[in-house]
Amino acid sequence: MSNLSMEQWGEPIGPEVMVHSTSQQAVEQLAGEIAAGIRKRTRQGGRYVLGLATGSTPIPLYEELVRLHREEGLSFEKVTTFNLDEYYGLSPESEQSYHHFMQKHLFSKVDIAPERIHIPDGMVPRNEVERYCAEYEEAITQAGGIDLQILGIGRTGHIGFNEPPSDDSTRTRLVTLDPVTRQDAASDFGGLDFVPKEAITMGIATILEARTAVLLAWGERKQEIVSRSLASSPSSSIPASFLNLHQDAAYLLDEAAAPEFQPA
Ligand code: PGA
Repeated sequence: MSNLSMEQWGEPIGPEVMVHSTSQQAVEQLAGEIAAGIRKRTRQGGRYVLGLATGSTPIPLYEELVRLHREEGLSFEKVTTFNLDEYYGLSPESEQSYHHFMQKHLFSKVDIAPERIHIPDGMVPRNEVERYCAEYEEAITQAGGIDLQILGIGRTGHIGFNEPPSDDSTRTRLVTLDPVTRQDAASDFGGLDFVPKEAITMGIATILEARTAVLLAWGERKQEIVSRSLASSPSSSIPASFLNLHQDAAYLLDEAAAPEFQPA
């Protein structure tokens, strides 16, 4: 693994950039850190608050967390979770919903208490969305804030569904999905026409309040946006670049997604 920081470009100190040979090695490191955090908090009699992401990227991380639960006794009994986002208009039963995704890849396989799982409700009536989103923010605060937020990055530079332009004042809200994001989701929905046009997502301000934020990216397909995000000063045109402001943020990458660093 190599540890690189933006200092090497002569820029202000930015997020830590950790590059592993494979995504499997990367998720083993992160799952180990999450497990240590959960165990420590549990020993102290508290709850660990985990911010979760969906999409293809975190699947190997969830597989590793499930393995730690099954083989190494990691308990999620004292874990509270908040997911980043959900498609608007999809019911939790829909196979494409992030409720369904989370059940399938993590929640049904570990001992988490259903009442401590939080995923935005894609079925909230439009005239109640604003109140609902404020309550989602309040629930995060009431839980003591997010200890560690897992993030993917979209080709638009989104984190959560904060599409450009999204700035660091944004909170949980209803958003319109970027055409590129909808195109990337088309195969999951059996065609572009079936991809929802809107979603409820945590905002950039919400994400930046997590004590630690870890952005995961694998494969060549993500290399360009990862490079642009890391090289950019915080800008609403690349929402992920606001992570560059965070005191404890990391980009966890495999070699294919890693930017080509300029020699120091
Ligand atoms: P992916 O999506 O993990 O399916 O590439 C990431 C994202 O859009 O945040």
